[in-house]
Amino acid sequence: MFGDKQTTALDPARIPAHVAIIMDGNGRWAKKRFLPRIAGHKQGMENVKVITKAASRLGIKVLTLYAFSTENWKRPDSEVNYLMSLPVDFFNVFMPELIEENVRVQVMGELDALPAKTRQAAAQAEADSAANTGMILNFALNYGGRDELIEATRAIATAAAAGTLDPAAIDADTIAAHLMTRRLGDRADPDLLIRTSGEERLSNFLLWQLAYSELVFTPAYWPDFSPAALESAIAEYQSRDRRFGGIDSNR
Ligand code: FPP
Repeated sequence: MFGDKQTTALDPARIPAHVAIIMDGNGRWAKKRFLPRIAGHKQGMENVKVITKAASRLGIKVLTLYAFSTENWKRPDSEVNYLMSLPVDFFNVFMPELIEENVRVQVMGELDALPAKTRQAAAQAEADSAANTGMILNFALNYGGRDELIEATRAIATAAAAGTLDPAAIDADTIAAHLMTRRLGDRADPDLLIRTSGEERLSNFLLWQLAYSELVFTPAYWPDFSPAALESAIAEYQSRDRRFGGIDSNR
């Protein structure tokens, strides 16, 4: 069961290169404290700082965080506006520390639909950290897995119709090269997906890329998800037997 591996020492040679997190439970964290939902998001943003540092120090190479989905626009305007202001605050305050940690920021999603201030903050953070060579902190912002696949399909179909791509040559690499994660190269697919708050679904996150990822679900609400809980999730990952559809070579 998740959570009982906290005392297990991690094998430094098998730290997952790419960890993706669905940061769920901010609203319930706030409700439990009789606070407005946005107080949960603010605390969630604070925890992004804590977990980013912890992940970088553990040797994770890519940390992808689901910060806003294409479905989150359905929330009340006041909450959407607050969520859109978070990247601005986050990068304003936290950028010097990210630079110090050698963390490189990337942002993926339908960025054209974001308010200008959010888009500009994301672009500035990418530019300011472009020379960093450490962990990539990859925010999924206005991201949806199905939309990503629709866009990729359109681009591939357009190339095929134009005669620049042979339909018979379309393979998994062709699809991967048209996804928003293409910038991550051979680290595009998460090794480990963590979802907080006890929900156990993918919610339109990285539908292609999660095909062979290990999934870990933890009951903690995102603002309470601690570095120790991250280590515990990695210990759970290290206890799993990843076969990618093959068989264990020891059997
Ligand atoms: C899900 O919790 C969380 C979100 C929709 C927003 C996640 C955003 C953050 C954690 C902050 C992002 C920070 C930066 C720097 C971009 P929920 O509101 O669905 O919680 P609930 O299910 O308990 O209502």
